[in-house]
Amino acid sequence: MNIQENVPLAPHTTLRIGGPARYYATALSEEELRDAALWARSRSLPVFVLGGGSNLVISDDGFPGLVLHVRLRGIEATQDGRVVAAAGEDWDALVSRCVAAGLAGIECLSGIPGSVGGTPVQNVGAYGQEVSATIRSVRAMDIATGEFRNLAASECGFSYRTSIFNSSERGRHVVSSVTYELDPGGAPRLDYKELKDRFEGRPAPSLAEVREAVLTVRAGKSMLLASDDPNSRSAGSFFKNPIVREPLWAALEKTTGVPAPRYAVSPGLVKVPAAWLIDRAGFQRGERRGPVGISSRHTLALVNFGGNATAAQLMKLAVEIQARVMKRFGIELEMEPVRVGFGE
Ligand code: EPU
Repeated sequence: MNIQENVPLAPHTTLRIGGPARYYATALSEEELRDAALWARSRSLPVFVLGGGSNLVISDDGFPGLVLHVRLRGIEATQDGRVVAAAGEDWDALVSRCVAAGLAGIECLSGIPGSVGGTPVQNVGAYGQEVSATIRSVRAMDIATGEFRNLAASECGFSYRTSIFNSSERGRHVVSSVTYELDPGGAPRLDYKELKDRFEGRPAPSLAEVREAVLTVRAGKSMLLASDDPNSRSAGSFFKNPIVREPLWAALEKTTGVPAPRYAVSPGLVKVPAAWLIDRAGFQRGERRGPVGISSRHTLALVNFGGNATAAQLMKLAVEIQARVMKRFGIELEMEPVRVGFGE
């Protein structure tokens, strides 16, 4: 095990913002994960688990403990559609491989940056699919004891962008591998209107065609990592779509004069696009506060436009957005990315 000191973390994140890790270790195996966790325990250091860095805001002060970078590799697939992937595998490479093998269930999650290990943590979702629908189990280590456990999907507490790993048991585990149960020869999911529209009048698109369509839609919103797209230096959606009671949703039309978009959640509750609320609160796409700002393609992504942007500048903009949406609509926007080193 190789422990490094004062390692810059910004290059390990898609936002490219933030300070250093006091200690930093890379784990290529479960043994290395355990060794690193026990090393941190012996020094009473907090541990932060770093995966793909795509949903992460690191504070300018960095992290005072051990940053454990999970880089375990390996994918095993069985005949019946079960796929076991190590946490450090690139998520989109896995999706691409499964689509090519005719395995349905994650094709709409194409183009999402990050690693396999992050997918159960925030229950990644897009275009009508949530990864929890295909996760069979998650193998994870308890950081305090170094012991590994296989958690069945039912034990993971999945809901919208939520699992036990980022809520009730936040900080307790490191995911080492995930078992997905996919559908060999299954049809792609075409629920999301924007996606469905692209196949208007064309029956039964293939998994590969749906993957391509998702990649195109995402690229159009700068939600695809691309070195030549400055808007993509972001953490994806910066806020969750709030789930509100029907009367609060209905009140939005009174305030704005137009009906707000909605997705049904359960009787009496609807999800409202945070991007729409931010727009209607008066923020413009492409609006900047110094080197940080709002993506010119989507109001839900906050972007580091370069020039030594700081986490403080980014968080200030996030708080400004929250405050204005609260003042105008009485709705609280919850930040979506994991925040590290902000004294939590
Ligand atoms: N909209 C605006 N202004 C904008 C962009 C969108 O008003 O600048 C409104 C439009 O009414 C649009 C609606 O917001 O119809 C929804 O926009 P979009 O389809 O882009 O989806 P989203 O709700 O903003 C969510 C996820 C994304 C996921 C997409 C597609 C969350 C927080 N975000 O975004 O996930 O890719 O749906 O399914 O749930 C992420 O989590 O990082 C992420 C990118």
